[in-house]
Amino acid sequence: GVSTDTVTTCVDSNIPHRLECENGVIRVQSALYGRKNNKTCSEGRPPREFSNTGCSQNGTGDFVKNRCNGKKVCEISTNDVISPDPCYGTYKYLQTNFTCVPAIHLIACYQSYANLNCDKGRVISVLGAYFGRDNKAVCYASRPPSQVENVYCSNSTQIVAKSCNGRNSCTIKASGSVFGDPCFGTFKYLELSYVCKCK
Ligand SMILES: *[C@@H]1O[C@H](CO)[C@@H](O)[C@H](O)[C@H]1NC(C)=O
Ligand SMILES: *[C@@H]1O[C@H](CO)[C@@H](O)[C@H](O)[C@H]1NC(C)=O
Ligand SMILES: *[C@@H]1O[C@H](CO)[C@@H](O)[C@H](O)[C@H]1NC(C)=O
Ligand SMILES: *[C@@H]1O[C@H](CO)[C@@H](O)[C@H](O)[C@H]1NC(C)=O
Repeated sequence: GVSTDTVTTCVDSNIPHRLECENGVIRVQSALYGRKNNKTCSEGRPPREFSNTGCSQNGTGDFVKNRCNGKKVCEISTNDVISPDPCYGTYKYLQTNFTCVPAIHLIACYQSYANLNCDKGRVISVLGAYFGRDNKAVCYASRPPSQVENVYCSNSTQIVAKSCNGRNSCTIKASGSVFGDPCFGTFKYLELSYVCKCK
């Protein structure tokens, strides 16, 4: 069976919300930013900060899916989900339930090609695709440090799914002409995951 992992990050902890799969890639089931019980992240806080147990930010599930699905490691700064505040005065947390699912995981450095291929009779289904950079240690060979430092530029893109879903094979170039430029001056890459489904 597939087991579910839960990661909970108290919001002002300055620790990033980090999801990681040792095997396979992340598939987010649900995520909460707010508070649904009076226990999580309550230690050392005054009761008024955890008495509201009906607080959640709309759209957090989609936000985390958009950022993390199909990656092996995904870090979200809790600052990224903070506005608008869904319950002022309540001490909030970000909690994600996810599983690690088998998938083909590819990285194509800037100006190179990602080749997606399925066996005969099967078709591509993209789990997630990102263009930018969220890791210094990927596509860095012979690059000046200034081009690999920015690790806060990884934009989710629907372009890969639109071009490749339902096809048996697909080639896509990791370039600005295809994906735009989310961070000028950064040496970007395309990261994606897909599975092969029966037609
Ligand atoms: C995650 O799963 C646990 C255990 O089933 C559940 O109590 C919790 O509410 C879930 N969290 C979210 C954000 O869905
Ligand atoms: C937390 O909520 C439970 C009921 O859900 C209640 O019995 C308990 O007293 C509350 N604890 C605090 C510290 O407010
Ligand atoms: C959040 O979504 C619920 C149900 O979809 C809706 O009733 C509520 O007004 C929304 N809240 C905000 C702040 O958008
Ligand atoms: C990339 O994401 C950032 C932050 O979400 C956004 O401001 C920017 O417009 C995006 N860039 C592209 C090219 O989609």
